Amino acid sequence: MTGLATAAERSAFIDKLPKAELHLHIEGSLEPELMFALAQRNGVQIPFASVEEVQAAYNFSNLQDFLDIYYQGMAVLIEEQDFYDLTMAYLQRAKADNVRHVEIFFDPQGHTERGVAFATVINGISRALAAGERDLGISYRLIMCFLRHLSEENALATLAEAKPFLERIHGVGLDSSELGHPPGKFTNVFAQARDLGLKLVAHAGEEGPPEYVYEALDILKIDRIDHGNRALEDTALVKRLVDNGMCLTVCPLSNLKLCVVDDIHDHPLKRMLDHGLKATVNADDPSYFGGYVNDNYRAVAEALDLSKDELILLAQNSFIGSFLEDSDKQRHLAAVDAYAG
Ligand code: HPA
Ligand code: ZN
Repeated sequence: MTGLATAAERSAFIDKLPKAELHLHIEGSLEPELMFALAQRNGVQIPFASVEEVQAAYNFSNLQDFLDIYYQGMAVLIEEQDFYDLTMAYLQRAKADNVRHVEIFFDPQGHTERGVAFATVINGISRALAAGERDLGISYRLIMCFLRHLSEENALATLAEAKPFLERIHGVGLDSSELGHPPGKFTNVFAQARDLGLKLVAHAGEEGPPEYVYEALDILKIDRIDHGNRALEDTALVKRLVDNGMCLTVCPLSNLKLCVVDDIHDHPLKRMLDHGLKATVNADDPSYFGGYVNDNYRAVAEALDLSKDELILLAQNSFIGSFLEDSDKQRHLAAVDAYAG
């Protein structure tokens, strides 16, 4: 295939491009229709009368605005089957976008705080992930996030609660309200997770300053950065991330919806690639931000006029930045090469 001359050609190229998704909060893939179905199934009240009312509420001016609604939405998830249905719905959607490998986040504290047992959450999610691998051919890693607005003691208790399930948990992450909750707040729990052999990621530089990215690197010793947009404000930091081949899981439509960028045409993704940063494209919370992974690729491809080579690079980065074994990375990269022609 030669260049991609039109939006339709780009879109078709993106549709079939083999890719991995590395930044996806499973609770953020709860579509309004499933929210209503689960509310009814579980007898849970939700403060919305219709799907349209839910969608109208998804108008955010910052991260906290979104999080307030996101935690409300989770309240319909009660039974193991709910977590299974949620995860399976995402995997089917991922399959349609030709996603070959997923690394998904879950927020156990968002559920255990409401009285839902840790085992209920992880059993439902991991049963769906196993079924997705078997039936849809999508491999996976599962990353447990700590809510940074809660205390480190709470995170430590959550890690302790996760101990019987560590065979099914590949890494830990850090999400929720970034400002005022720097990575250094979680020094001890990340050190423990590292000693347990878990992979480490953290949201940093979404709303928080470059100093938070430094803390995530130097104090938490993370393997990958979620978002990382504001790293671009610091030239020395950019150089360090490039030199270390650090992967950034970038989420363009999330950035737009949460006003991290004012206009998709100003999104920093292309500048990140131009600097040599290992940026990837991801959906973050697709049901809240108006698009799954291919919608994110399409939005930036159009707004930033990305070339075919840049789209290929983004897909390559998604496998290179994953926590797959090297042999699996090579197999996926060969599939990208074969597709690129
Ligand atoms: N940022 C921080 N925390 C989150 C997000 C996000 O984009 N999505 C779900 N929890
Ligand atoms: Zn996120």
